[in-house]
Amino acid sequence: MPRPTLRDTPVDDLLPMEAAMEHAALEQEIADHDRRYYQEDAPAISDGEYDALRRRYEALEARFPGIAGENSLSRRVGAKPLEKFVKVRHSVPMLSLANAFSDGEVREFVERVYRFLQRDVSAPVVFTAEPKIDGLSLNIRYENGILTRASTRGDGAEGEDVTANARTIGDIPQRLTGAGVPAVCEIRGEVYLRHDDFAALNQRYEQEGRQTFANPRNAAAGSLRQLDARVTAERPLRYFAYTWGEMTDLPERTQYDMIRRFADWGLSVNPLTQRCPAAADMLAHYRRIQELRPTLDYDIDGVVYKVDDLTLQQRLGFISRSPRWALAHKFPAERATTILEGIDISVGRTGTLNPIARLKPVTVGGVVVSNATLHNEAYISGFDGDGGTIRNGVDIRVGDTVEIYRAGDVIPKVVDVVLDKRPGDSAPFVFPEVCPACGSRAVRRFNPRTGKEDAARRCTGGLVCPAQICERLKHFVSKQAFNIDGLGDQRIEELFRDKIITEPADIFTLEDRNGTAELALEQREGWGIQSVQNLFAAIRERRTITLNRFLFALGIPQVGESTAKLLARHYGTFEHLTEAIRAAADPAGDAYAELMAIDGLGPSVIQELIDFFSEEHNVRGVDALLRQLTLEPVEQQTVHSPVAGKTVVFTGTLERLTRDEAKATAERLGAKVAGSVSKKTDLVVAGPGAGSKLAKARELGIEVIDEDAWFALVGG
Ligand code: IVH
Repeated sequence: MPRPTLRDTPVDDLLPMEAAMEHAALEQEIADHDRRYYQEDAPAISDGEYDALRRRYEALEARFPGIAGENSLSRRVGAKPLEKFVKVRHSVPMLSLANAFSDGEVREFVERVYRFLQRDVSAPVVFTAEPKIDGLSLNIRYENGILTRASTRGDGAEGEDVTANARTIGDIPQRLTGAGVPAVCEIRGEVYLRHDDFAALNQRYEQEGRQTFANPRNAAAGSLRQLDARVTAERPLRYFAYTWGEMTDLPERTQYDMIRRFADWGLSVNPLTQRCPAAADMLAHYRRIQELRPTLDYDIDGVVYKVDDLTLQQRLGFISRSPRWALAHKFPAERATTILEGIDISVGRTGTLNPIARLKPVTVGGVVVSNATLHNEAYISGFDGDGGTIRNGVDIRVGDTVEIYRAGDVIPKVVDVVLDKRPGDSAPFVFPEVCPACGSRAVRRFNPRTGKEDAARRCTGGLVCPAQICERLKHFVSKQAFNIDGLGDQRIEELFRDKIITEPADIFTLEDRNGTAELALEQREGWGIQSVQNLFAAIRERRTITLNRFLFALGIPQVGESTAKLLARHYGTFEHLTEAIRAAADPAGDAYAELMAIDGLGPSVIQELIDFFSEEHNVRGVDALLRQLTLEPVEQQTVHSPVAGKTVVFTGTLERLTRDEAKATAERLGAKVAGSVSKKTDLVVAGPGAGSKLAKARELGIEVIDEDAWFALVGG
């Protein structure tokens, strides 16, 4: 029988010589595909075919280690620098963690978990506790045990493909060994630099006259996001694995055992991970890690607690962008003292006058700080506008020695004044009463919602204030809003300054206006024909946008991404929403009650919405914009379930589920959960003791089912 071609011969049946020949041929072939994919953006084969080639290549190396020469693609350091990173959608989103700063908040977290699961001490919930590594997270994907892709977190939904770089990290195996590796196995963890490696790197850079890194985290991030993997290879990055993404099956039932498995498979895991049967143990472990912190050779910024039992993790699920089953307990921020050399005022997007401290530069936690926030006028004065004091009524003056603190990436803050060191000739700071950006009056309002004077002074210039318009425009095009590529902060500033874009609608008329006597973007310095064409294409692409993004982009105070989503889901169309908001001006009416019944909305955000849509200039601006756009319904994961799109109300006692859990399940299945029964309710789930809501449902002829029927409906 003729021998099959090399490629079809099982690796185990190859002679070393044949393996070497095939390895060399594959190396060439893969390099060609890489070039097409990365440099020419023109792949010739599918991802699956490419992966098959790579798997074969790696299998050859695994079976015949001698053939992997210095130029082996599995170290990929020979690859040419990339033009840009390729985007990767995460098959399971990469979420963030809720933070706690005190023991009390940790206890509340534990209580919340017990409440949600309807458990008490008779059935204790075990947690794990481990250091929170101060690096950057990386998803590494293995298929049939072989590393196929590494991607950064990005915005959580979509990151960047840094596979070539990740292959240069010693802690990241090219192949997982040991028992029970799932066919698809995505490991998640933190890339970091050790202190000694960081110091050596900076020393070398210093000698070479290059810019040094502020801290190990920045150095790690800069090293991982190198377009040329050869540069990454020179940096001794390390990796701790602590969670996972897509897994075709879970080999263990607890968090702790999963991490142990990771270690069995050849991954590096943090040795300070521990199981904690109760809140007191979690806090004790926190303190232990805090004590060890100065002796560790890598940066950590807190402790992460996770519910150990994976079934319970699943039941707890997620809220917004973080899991209900985990919490980051941060270490207290780092502090330093320095001199306050001046106070600058910047005007925020919503018109608040924000005082910024100009400081004598000082190092806090490895970073040089020369600016810090002073929050608002009240904060500087020492009086909160509600008859209360801040710092016992001590004001902050230029020339003062001040204490500042910095918590991770958060903007540094001025927290205190060292009164003993106050110069004799200092004077209280006089806060400006006109807006530094537009000269309009700046006022501190009595706020009817809070019943006190606002802490911040605000410009009354609204849409005529350049600071506000420009900031609003930047927000409008930002990633979470319209996400217009090629229209970054600097371009907005430039186009705004030159009066080419003075309101959002102008963005969408740019292309039509271009090429006229007044406007030739491609002739502007730093633009060029291609970049202008790209920009127009990017703008065209955003003419259709989801309602939630649109709402968020408007920059209405207090309307963040999740509020925008709630509103978009509830009202479906912009017309319904604005109609409801206008009608809600009457707080005694149904429209107001309906807004209040949306879980997650409160009176102050509702007031902001009412205010926004009752301002004539806002309405005009929004109308101009809508003439340019097509709005789509909210981004929804398409959920196929019998309750998708329905409005459900739970009432009475539920026996098998807590109320929170019932709500979370319903929402996961695409239902809206409301707090009260109205004509818009589709289904009422009533347990024993249901009263007025049940009566109302009957009166309105709405379908009412009990808890068992609910389970039957949603499948257990
Ligand atoms: S678990 C679902 N464990 O902290 C979230 N994260 O604030 C799973 N981080 O993006 C994350 N050390 O980059 C987890 N031991 C640890 C961690 C850790 C650092 C980072 C991670 C994440 C961020 C969340």
